[in-house]
Amino acid sequence: MTDIKLKLDRIVLSYDDLLVLNGITLDVRRGEFVSIVGPSGAGKSTILKILTGAAEADGGEILFDGRQLDPDARPFALMPQRDALMPWRRIIDNATLGLEVQGMSRRDARHRVEPLMAEFGLAGFEEHYPSALSGGMRQRAALLRTVVQDRSMLLLDEPFGALDALTRNQMQLWLEDMWLKHRWTAMLVTHDIREAVMLSDRIYVLSARPAQVARTIEVPLPRPRMRDAAIRAKVAEIESAILDTLVGSQHSLLQEGQMP
Ligand SMILES: Nc1ncnc2c1ncn2[C@@H]1O[C@H](COP(=O)(O)OP(=O)(O)O)[C@@H](O)[C@H]1O
Ligand SMILES: [Mg+2]
Repeated sequence: MTDIKLKLDRIVLSYDDLLVLNGITLDVRRGEFVSIVGPSGAGKSTILKILTGAAEADGGEILFDGRQLDPDARPFALMPQRDALMPWRRIIDNATLGLEVQGMSRRDARHRVEPLMAEFGLAGFEEHYPSALSGGMRQRAALLRTVVQDRSMLLLDEPFGALDALTRNQMQLWLEDMWLKHRWTAMLVTHDIREAVMLSDRIYVLSARPAQVARTIEVPLPRPRMRDAAIRAKVAEIESAILDTLVGSQHSLLQEGQMP
């Protein structure tokens, strides 16, 4: 019995003539929070799309719990880059949507979701439409819809990318608390390096396209991290080391005149 939950082994993908992923090898352990950072256009979202089946790799292997991933039983719940709430459904009905799609009755789905509304900061807003909520609340509703699906792994694609800096900070604090409580196995895609360091056990730094893993960084800092000034200082050091790797890869791109 290994504690490796997910393994990507030499994943290659091109869109027509554009080589995007050039042999991505990475793994996520059970209960681990892993981030993928990299330049915009490197292929981060594409990695998640391959996992959920929205894109197909041209080569490489995906193992889940030590076995070849079954394309008909994908154990991932994805929170996409945009909140993707349906504007015509109330918040509670958006939150139950994933369960209903899985075949659960609306009544049972509500039963599962209602007790979590408070934890997600949505109590009292159940019957509101998404347009009446702040950006942070919409993201929490989208995350609630994702986590109640009870899949064994959570995929988060730039979940806070569209929020203002202050709201993003509050959401990161909140996500840290929630992760400490629930210990989801999670893979976060982000271009916010500080966010990756604050939240992750391990970080994969991608090179610019065609993407490879340029560096793997362990973050052995105790949690919670965001409220502790001494830990924040350590976070800044790691952040700076990652930035060096990324700047190096951007630099070689500039020389080749192929900035995205
Ligand atoms: N469906 C698609 N067809 C063609 N090219 C695509 C498609 N999806 C993404 N791309 C291209 O693949 C590259 C990687 O995209 P993406 O994975 O979205 O990058 P990231 O999430 O790291 O910003 C980009 O150059 C993008 O334009
Ligand atoms: Mg993306």
